Amino acid sequence: MSELSVNHLLGIKYLKEEDIQLIFETADQFKEVINRPIKKVPSLRDITIANLFFENSTRTKLSFELAEKRLSADVINFSASQSSVKKGETLIDTVNNILSMKVDMVVMRHPNPGAGVFLSKNVSASIVNAGDGAHEHPTQALLDSYSIREKLGDVAGKNVVIVGDILHSRVALSNIFALKLQGANVKVCGPKTLLPKYIESLGVQVETNLRKALEWCDVANMLRVQNERMDISYFPSTREYAQQYGVTKNLLDSLDKEIVIMHPGPINRGVEITSDVADSKQSIILNQVENGVAVRMAVIYLLASKIKN
Ligand code: CP
Repeated sequence: MSELSVNHLLGIKYLKEEDIQLIFETADQFKEVINRPIKKVPSLRDITIANLFFENSTRTKLSFELAEKRLSADVINFSASQSSVKKGETLIDTVNNILSMKVDMVVMRHPNPGAGVFLSKNVSASIVNAGDGAHEHPTQALLDSYSIREKLGDVAGKNVVIVGDILHSRVALSNIFALKLQGANVKVCGPKTLLPKYIESLGVQVETNLRKALEWCDVANMLRVQNERMDISYFPSTREYAQQYGVTKNLLDSLDKEIVIMHPGPINRGVEITSDVADSKQSIILNQVENGVAVRMAVIYLLASKIKN
């Protein structure tokens, strides 16, 4: 396979396994580039990309911007809080105005699930979903799988547990799709109130006991409790959540094998993982961030190739 099967990256659920392998093989080449003294290639000198962020971000926003600049694309950044969205402009009007400035690709984070799909049906640019509400965060799942592949050699056959607030997590859904597509075994673990009722229909197993989940897995992907998406209490207290579902160094050391710890960030230190776990040699959290640039370079490069053709 030499090109993606899609013209937009809206979610992992729209990808084939071959798309993921193509993205990873392309990312391997870009990872080599960004470790050179001159970390830039001229591949996208003729492409202009708008980064539209309607929701807060540190990693994803900076990672996309750096990926685009490493590919020599022209980049414009848009933050909803400083824009005419505040004056009532619609999403389609906003994007069409940006596109009339000869923009080829839009990277968008939006609080509403499906915002990227909606945009892709109403504007002419290639759309990359940088996180849409509690729906999908495809590049996060890609960089997560890429990091597992880098650490353990392959994703197929590995036991991966996703721990925490599955209910409100776009990272969980995209990871489940990506891991299943690549042949990993997936469990989710968390309080019952934070596990969606439909979750087993996605081909994952449920384990509410954290120790049992960790004993089973090769990799634990620890999710943040998304307080900003909760309008009711889903567990008695943060302290109790941390006691039941937080990973501590003592818990890790008591297992009979060394598992890999991942986290998409931002971390609530002392809630989902303690600082000594986040900073331990079992943690690949900063490798995930590093790999995010190469993976996003690959996604943008492959989608841009389709625009050019
Ligand atoms: N992992 C992630 O999406 O982080 P940001 O919200 O900082 O982009």
